[in-house]
Amino acid sequence: MVVKYVSKRFRDIARGADVHALDDLSCAIADREFAAILGPSQCGKSTLLNIVAGFEASSRGAVLLDGRPVMRPGSDRGVVFQEYALFPWLSVAQNLEFGLRHQPLDSGQRRRRVRQYVELVGLRGFEHASPKNLGRDETTGGPVARPGGRS
Ligand SMILES: Nc1ncnc2c1ncn2[C@@H]1O[C@H](COP(=O)(O)OP(=O)(O)OP(=O)(O)O)[C@@H](O)[C@H]1O
Ligand SMILES: [Mg+2]
Repeated sequence: MVVKYVSKRFRDIARGADVHALDDLSCAIADREFAAILGPSQCGKSTLLNIVAGFEASSRGAVLLDGRPVMRPGSDRGVVFQEYALFPWLSVAQNLEFGLRHQPLDSGQRRRRVRQYVELVGLRGFEHASPKNLGRDETTGGPVARPGGRS
């Protein structure tokens, strides 16, 4: 993934001024490389992640994934949200399956993939539980496993 000269300005309506959340940021992350973004509060970390995820457009510059510009969210990128982000009306297994809907998998392959990630995050036996019936420690597995299930 390559981030090229990315800038992001937000219009701060209350102050009537622009906020320069990102200014000419470039970096590259190789396949299977693990990268962390560190910085003080409000320095633009979430803004960058939102642009990489395709939730926000940059004001200038581009994010390229395998050479192609990121234009929108896609199943080639997963986001583990900081806050609780499971669908409360779906079971644990249905939450995991959600991101697999656009993958070319048959129902057997989809079930196997869900089982694999349920095991990985230690939720075996809770597949059909509602996330709201699980404790805080258990529910953290769901948001982690959901984007993982796609890859
Ligand atoms: N939708 C928006 N409209 C206006 N300003 C915004 C918007 N989103 C972010 N900002 C501003 O952009 C700047 C960067 O915010 P961002 O949330 O990316 O920071 P952060 O590094 O993730 O902060 P934190 O560590 O607190 O999560 C801040 O000044 C913030 O107020
Ligand atoms: Mg943030």
